[in-house]
Amino acid sequence: ASAANTPQWRPDVHFTPHRNWMNDPNGLVYFRGEYHLFFQHNPEGIEHANLSWGHAVSTDLTNWQELPVALEPDELGEIFSGSAVVDHDDTSGFFGGHAGLVAFYTSAGETQQQSIAHSSDNGRTWTKYAGNPVIANPGLEDFRDPKVIRHEPTGRWVMMVAAGDRIVFYGSRDLVHWDQLSEFGVGHGAHGGVWECPDLFELPVDGDPKRRRWVLIVSTGSGGPAGGSAAQYFLGDFDGTTFTNDNPAEEVRWVDKGADFYAPQSWSNSPHGSRVWLGWMSNWNYAKQVPTHPWRGAMTMPREVGLTESGTGVRLSQRPVDELRRRRGRVRRWSGVVGRDEVPEFSGSVLDVVAEFRLDTADSFGFDAFAGRDQHTRIGYDVRAGELFVDRTESGRVRVAEGFPARHAVALEPEGTTVRLRILLDRCSVEVFGGAGSAVLTDLVFPEEEGDRLRPFATGGSAHLTSLEVFDLDRP
Ligand code: FRU
Repeated sequence: ASAANTPQWRPDVHFTPHRNWMNDPNGLVYFRGEYHLFFQHNPEGIEHANLSWGHAVSTDLTNWQELPVALEPDELGEIFSGSAVVDHDDTSGFFGGHAGLVAFYTSAGETQQQSIAHSSDNGRTWTKYAGNPVIANPGLEDFRDPKVIRHEPTGRWVMMVAAGDRIVFYGSRDLVHWDQLSEFGVGHGAHGGVWECPDLFELPVDGDPKRRRWVLIVSTGSGGPAGGSAAQYFLGDFDGTTFTNDNPAEEVRWVDKGADFYAPQSWSNSPHGSRVWLGWMSNWNYAKQVPTHPWRGAMTMPREVGLTESGTGVRLSQRPVDELRRRRGRVRRWSGVVGRDEVPEFSGSVLDVVAEFRLDTADSFGFDAFAGRDQHTRIGYDVRAGELFVDRTESGRVRVAEGFPARHAVALEPEGTTVRLRILLDRCSVEVFGGAGSAVLTDLVFPEEEGDRLRPFATGGSAHLTSLEVFDLDRP
């Protein structure tokens, strides 16, 4: 029997393919006015198979237009994850002296190897390089997800490949011939699963251009903080050849402590003032059981990534891209004391919520989202634990998989006596950004009928909701 369609869980502002399977974002690149989003896709079904690169474009990072499939399997295998760059100066020689796009992907057949393709028509059609693979498998089972960046000081291209328990770095002058430079990772960070989908970029700390650190992103197939797959980051230095970790090797830093932020990638060549990325909003623990139809898989909201100095050192911070504000429609505002005053409830399952609480006698406070008679997703702050949390144990359809009904938490220091929350709700997802954005939780939820209320709550006393704005996010 074929599954019934689930339009109630189709996000309005998050990208989903019209139909069929999607996992990792791939080939994120900006070129000639368009943000390209390629993605792991099965054009023929809702299962993880026939891996191809699906394609969508946007001019504003929030309205997406899906285009025909860009890369399909060939005799070297399926098309696994990878990246893309603009070859401005035609270093590859593919573009007759003009600029063009070059994509890097893993050919996943009998072994995993790195291949390339190029496009002279803004990513609409691609030519696979006749000499593929450009990096043959060196005898490793896991050898995939090439990410290419331009390193200006050394005047070369750098590719990172995830190889089980490490990232291998390669260098090239022409995007075709690659020499190994170095390796990073053995003994560093979390190794609960194989390493996948690296990314690398340099960011200023608190916007100070004189204080810059390199951020190495590594996704890990299992052993994440909420169970299953998750993304971690390392801060350090990159000299064009070697990445050096600033922090103790055993230290683990998670990017997002919810269950559903995986394989994030940042846009190459982006004109945006900040580094912008998004992730696949799912988890390998249950990705194949996600109950949506006729599509399976969603991306997170594109987020600006930064570094910020906190009491515990430099941390990664994230916030939704500013472009999202253009989708804001009706706003409802309120302030008062939760746990004392009569508190309003707000309807809506596609909302952008901006809230500021002041600590008082309550031991927890926040919102019940997607709330109905017998269900709610609790998004709150636990004062004693000093933690932001999302509890989806009673969020609706929780029998997605074992372990799906759970509470996820991340440390968040109040700013004085203030706790700031930014919450995006989009029919089947919660993204919560605490304080300046260094505490982030992303979770899928599947509310059943009537689960469309937002209600402030407080337990064990009261909390001042000093300011609340509830914006509807409009459809394009
Ligand atoms: C990460 C990943 C990648 C691989 C792709 C296959 O989610 O496992 O390592 O390239 O998915 O779809």
